[in-house]
Amino acid sequence: MAEQKKLSVAEILALARKQKAEASGAPAETPPVAEAAPPAEAVAEPTAEAASTPEAPAKPAAPKPAGGKMSVAEMIAAARAGGAAGAKKPEAAAPKEAPKPADKPKPAAAKKEEAGPKTGGPKNTASILAAARGAAKPGPITKAEAAAKEKAEPATEKAPKQAPPMPVRPAAAMPKAAKAGAADDRRGFLSVMFGSMLGLGYTALAAAGGLWSLGLARFLYPNILTEPPSQFKVGFPSDFAPGKVEEKFKAQFGVWIVNTEYNGQPQIAAIRTVCTHLGCTPNWLEAEQKFKCPCHGSGFYKDGINFEGPAPRPLERYAITLSDDGQLQVDKSKLFFEEMGQWSDPQSFYSA
Ligand code: FES
Repeated sequence: MAEQKKLSVAEILALARKQKAEASGAPAETPPVAEAAPPAEAVAEPTAEAASTPEAPAKPAAPKPAGGKMSVAEMIAAARAGGAAGAKKPEAAAPKEAPKPADKPKPAAAKKEEAGPKTGGPKNTASILAAARGAAKPGPITKAEAAAKEKAEPATEKAPKQAPPMPVRPAAAMPKAAKAGAADDRRGFLSVMFGSMLGLGYTALAAAGGLWSLGLARFLYPNILTEPPSQFKVGFPSDFAPGKVEEKFKAQFGVWIVNTEYNGQPQIAAIRTVCTHLGCTPNWLEAEQKFKCPCHGSGFYKDGINFEGPAPRPLERYAITLSDDGQLQVDKSKLFFEEMGQWSDPQSFYSA
């Protein structure tokens, strides 16, 4: 036993190779010890750590296979186990001589690590951190991890997420219902009336029908009420001096008020402003003291007798009478013709 404990790793390896060669029948090649043997410190360190570190549990001695077919790792493990067993045996044999490493005061971290196996959790800080990182792996995950995570999640978490509610619109931004409705109605009406060619055609047809109806109503309405009255007052007899031709009623009533003489008798007469040739309107020429027709040159004296041009007969007279208020009143509904001897009728003149 004492000789086995003193074997170095190089010697163990050489012995193992020798046993392996004997088992296979090939001559054993003994490598140079210097090459095969690792440094004594390098080999001794893990052995010492294994003996002193409480984290590494003591591996049980592997059963030696029959026939000597052991790998190098198995042989090293067996040698370490043998060394550990050899180290424990002297302790068991003489426990009083050397204090056990466990008797030394242990740091707090070591005490916590020893308490780990009692609860079944990780043994040291590194293992605790590794377990925590393994539980919540930061960063992106693979598809397999995502699938496993989905399977592990409860069914309630797989439900589709609801969209967040819309923000509440402020009162100032809310549209006014009445105004918006009226504007919509107007836009709808305009779009219907002018938004298409068909609507535009119907609109034009309706407008034409309306205009035609208005024209028909005006055509059927009698025009007599739109004419000036047939009887009207022209003023007092004193307003018409002898030899004066008043033209202010020509445009509105179509009549001259003339203070003249007819057959040597002074008269105030209402002469119609229509040429007896073809119906033109003659003009009073104050300088020439005559009525002159611009159409064909017919001329008439102040009392209305024709004297030149194509006019075949004298101008016509309206009835003129003195009204109750003393004014002269003209009645256009009554005409008097000189060629028919009607100017002798008392209604055909006012005796001045
Ligand atoms: Fe007056 Fe012909 S219409 S002269």
